[in-house]
Amino acid sequence: MAQENNCVIVIFGASGDLTKRKLMPSVYALYRQNLLPKNFAILGTSRSPYTDEAFRKKIVSDIKTYANLKRADQKELGAFSKHLYYQAFDATQVQHYDDLKLKLSEIDTKLKIGGNYIYYLSTSPSLYSSIAKNLGKKGLQKEGKNSSWKRIVVEKPFGRDLKSAKALNADLQSIFDEDQIYRIDHYLGKETVQDIFALRFSNGIFEPLWNRNYVDHIEITAAESIGVENRGGYYDHYGAMRDMVQNHLLQVLGTIAIEPPSFFNATDVRNEAVKVFESLRPIKPSEVNKYAVQGQYVASKIKGKKVLGYRQEKDVAPDSRTATYVALKLYVDNWRWGDVPFYIRTGKYLPTRVTEVVVHFKKTPHHLFTKTELCEAAPNQLIIRIQPDEGILLKIGMKKPGAGFIIKDVGMDFLYSELTDAYIPEAYERLILDCILGDATHYARADAVEACWKFVDPILKTWEKNSKIKMYGYPAGTWGPPEARKLFYHPDDDWRYPCKNLVHDGEYCEL
Ligand code: BG6
Repeated sequence: MAQENNCVIVIFGASGDLTKRKLMPSVYALYRQNLLPKNFAILGTSRSPYTDEAFRKKIVSDIKTYANLKRADQKELGAFSKHLYYQAFDATQVQHYDDLKLKLSEIDTKLKIGGNYIYYLSTSPSLYSSIAKNLGKKGLQKEGKNSSWKRIVVEKPFGRDLKSAKALNADLQSIFDEDQIYRIDHYLGKETVQDIFALRFSNGIFEPLWNRNYVDHIEITAAESIGVENRGGYYDHYGAMRDMVQNHLLQVLGTIAIEPPSFFNATDVRNEAVKVFESLRPIKPSEVNKYAVQGQYVASKIKGKKVLGYRQEKDVAPDSRTATYVALKLYVDNWRWGDVPFYIRTGKYLPTRVTEVVVHFKKTPHHLFTKTELCEAAPNQLIIRIQPDEGILLKIGMKKPGAGFIIKDVGMDFLYSELTDAYIPEAYERLILDCILGDATHYARADAVEACWKFVDPILKTWEKNSKIKMYGYPAGTWGPPEARKLFYHPDDDWRYPCKNLVHDGEYCEL
């Protein structure tokens, strides 16, 4: 990697969960693959009082626990840990930024970094603005005449509604230029989400079909088999719409619906993405019931094990009306997608962990085989499995061998795991590397984030203001409220269920 990429990554919130579970294992994975610049350092900051040495020990142990390592290489880990530094620091205290500046300059001189810094905000979102402003007060955002650069990575959630997202954008942009700001959405870093671009734009056969003339509807699902675990405090304030839909699911939708950009670069790709978000047909408060379903998991038994309901989880209000499940029908009002429904759903404590996109193509115009013979085939489907079992499945109808003309569904299945050289990098690995390289293609731009909020805000506000709108209780381990099926335009249509409901003894109910 070129000398111009030498850098220090300053992690704000270095003693937190994200740092230990995702950031450090990803940086280490990059190190092992020799993808980091020759001169680099990680400077962790948080209020916890670590020394450099204690921080190194902690991170080495976190990596052993959370990184996907077959066997930890002690020597390599030891060498990696020499790149780690720590500064105890209170992000709200402006004078602490002097200490930070001093430490940065010491590391910079020692490692000949050349003034390139990435500020990674992995703290509570309430600190984002003040960190940016305090960095600004100390001139730590300024790029040097010697072409040194400064970048700031901002974790999600980016705001809690349109107003707060705009305010955060304004605060960040008052200190940093837009091209220094990297709003991370780790779904954009997933190999399989990026592969949607390759599928669409490196193959001649899909693009002509990728429009309202051939596509009947599109389903996007992000199901999780776990509950809120120890994140009740955060989650109860955000819920499924803010936690998953406003960012991850709309970004996946953006990738599916995007027009071909002129060039594959940050400007062109993001110019096209924002057009998709701006084309989302607004859902009026009076239409929310028709287009959106909210649910919350209730106590149940999964595989004989008792599972608490959401309202019984730690740090969750006992009368909470926060949705842990959301299903939506939405439209992208443009020339390509006019009137094609997109169905999206996400939920905690569903029967399995699966994220997938299903493109349902239209039925054949004439049903040649249905009158005289059996036709078991459904319209064609293209299933993009984002995780797990990463791959792509095309379902087509073929003749069952033998007498007669029985048509049945068969699948052409591509699995990443079957590639001999398959190594699927963690989303964070890819995105951190992109940031070091100054490539923001897979980061969200201010206008896109605001356009997504503009779409979800009225739905959230309607739910929050109107307690008469139903919140459906679904037993943990099931596919969410059956009412979500009513979103479908055709009564025969339904969601795809990659597996059955798990055995449960909870009750569907209204909360
Ligand atoms: C995070 C959400 O952004 O994404 C979590 O805050 C969710 O609630 C997670 O569990 C899902 O990510 P992944 O990569 O496991 O699908």
